[in-house]
Amino acid sequence: MEIRPLTGGLGAEILGADIRRAQDFDAIFEAFVNYSVVVLRGQDCTPEDHLAFARRFGPINVNRFFQPVEGYPEIATVLKEKDQKQAIGEGWHTDHSYDEMPAMGSILHAIEVPPIGGDTLLVSMAAAYEALSPALRIFLDGLTAVHSSRHTFGASVQDSEASVSGRLGNALAATQDARHPVVITHPLSGRRGLYVNPVFTTHIEELYPDESDAILAMLYAHCKQPEFHCRLRWQARDIAIWDNRATWHKAINDYHSHRRLMHRVTVAGVALAAAQAA
Ligand code: SIN
Repeated sequence: MEIRPLTGGLGAEILGADIRRAQDFDAIFEAFVNYSVVVLRGQDCTPEDHLAFARRFGPINVNRFFQPVEGYPEIATVLKEKDQKQAIGEGWHTDHSYDEMPAMGSILHAIEVPPIGGDTLLVSMAAAYEALSPALRIFLDGLTAVHSSRHTFGASVQDSEASVSGRLGNALAATQDARHPVVITHPLSGRRGLYVNPVFTTHIEELYPDESDAILAMLYAHCKQPEFHCRLRWQARDIAIWDNRATWHKAINDYHSHRRLMHRVTVAGVALAAAQAA
């Protein structure tokens, strides 16, 4: 097995591994903890293999809003058809941050990829945090943010193309509001990282609304710097897993008139702990 880092900040490509082989798992898991996102090329993988690989990481957390793959309620469809304009996951986000126990990771299997484009961008939230000034880090360490599913998956988006086409649904289930530390201690690596994101975070609880908006806007602009990013260039038969406690991601919607189909399984996580006092 060969592990090739994708950038100086996060991400690695794994060659010569097989998600079906139990003896490969420890090295894959170690790379996942070290690089926050890993992509395994050339996997001959059925939906059952995808689910079995996910269960090696932990129990599956079934997404409430994505259309399931027929016959596999635990696998979500991430689809954009040739004639559709809206991609799923175009905004910077962290999957399931609106849950009390947010998902550990998301495992995507590339079933059909466009001839060019359709990459996924990811951000290292630890690298972004570590690049802030010590004074700002101390200020953020004690704060709490609220995350919600309501404005993204609820009734207010029922007219969107993704909802009308049936790719997203179950708006009545969009009732989650969760509080998490703005800075978490990562449950696996112990590294501190920011845990707020533009799609699901609504506000920082301890601040006045205009202060919360300004601080979040400043943090989001900071995290968008390319020094903290890696870009996954998909090939059909890839399997990638990213750590939702360590990254943001965003689907790049630059492949109009081509089809892109991914299967996604989300692995359950734990309640998140705040940064420990230095
Ligand atoms: C997602 O947000 O889970 C989908 C990302 C992608 O399709 O690249």
